[in-house]
Amino acid sequence: MSVILDGAAIAAAIKQEVAEEVRSLAGQGIRPGLAAVLVGNVAASEIYVRSKVQTCAELGIFSDLLTPPDTVTTREMLDLVAALNARDDVDGILIQLPLPAQVDTKALLDAVDPAKDVDGFHPVNAGRLQAGRPALAPCTPAGVIEILKRSNIPIAGQHAVVVGRSDIVGKPAAMLLLHQNATVTICHSKTRNLAEITRQADILVAAIGRPGFITAEMVKPGATLIDVGINRLYTREEFDRFFLGNPKREAAFVKRGSVIVGDIHPQAFELSGAYTPVPGGVGLLTVAMLMANTVRAAKMRRGL
Ligand code: GUN
Repeated sequence: MSVILDGAAIAAAIKQEVAEEVRSLAGQGIRPGLAAVLVGNVAASEIYVRSKVQTCAELGIFSDLLTPPDTVTTREMLDLVAALNARDDVDGILIQLPLPAQVDTKALLDAVDPAKDVDGFHPVNAGRLQAGRPALAPCTPAGVIEILKRSNIPIAGQHAVVVGRSDIVGKPAAMLLLHQNATVTICHSKTRNLAEITRQADILVAAIGRPGFITAEMVKPGATLIDVGINRLYTREEFDRFFLGNPKREAAFVKRGSVIVGDIHPQAFELSGAYTPVPGGVGLLTVAMLMANTVRAAKMRRGL
């Protein structure tokens, strides 16, 4: 029997700790603040940002939602970021990605004050993380570590295999696992004999962005599987490939006309020692860690 690592319960525990810290800062006259920048009308981004703003309210964190139109220019976005960098009531700046094609995303992320970079996307924070200095770490990989630690899954000495090398998830996840003394292998689309490597993983982190890419044959029985993927499926054929004979998923698919699956095939979960479900796993940690980073930024900016 594999253990389901409950993202909701772990996220709730972190949020409760953050709320306690917010209350204690309030006693010192400090209210952490997050500026969330949502450009245009990308449906998924709207859902994510709404959840971030709502969670701020729940935890007593000030938030300001800025919504430039999808015709915004790089220059206008740079001016907006400069204004947020200068605002004393803003401790964290979140620019929801992806941005429209005409906006230079890298230039924009580089323009965020590293001290307010609660997404941990600025090269200064990436460098600090790499060098083992205090840094604001990207929220999703930080959430992966929290899940492992709070579930008492040993990391030190374990072989952690990260599939995916993005700047947002794969690379920082590998670095954080290394700092916890795992033996880390990073795999990607050009890796030869991928299954041979993933089968060696005690902890397998899948952050590829392809539905059910990690199949049962690629997993060592008893391994811990961390699924960072969020992929939406719309066709019956795709549904059947993952969830044939699963009445709960079937009902959801019929009702919504789509279903969400991670980067790990459900049959691989059955072999695992423990796994994060999709939905209900790593995704829920991302918002919790953003809140934790915002409070951390508020304290660091004040030398606390
Ligand atoms: N888009 C998808 N994931 C994220 C994230 O963690 N932060 C931001 N800013 N944009 C995203």
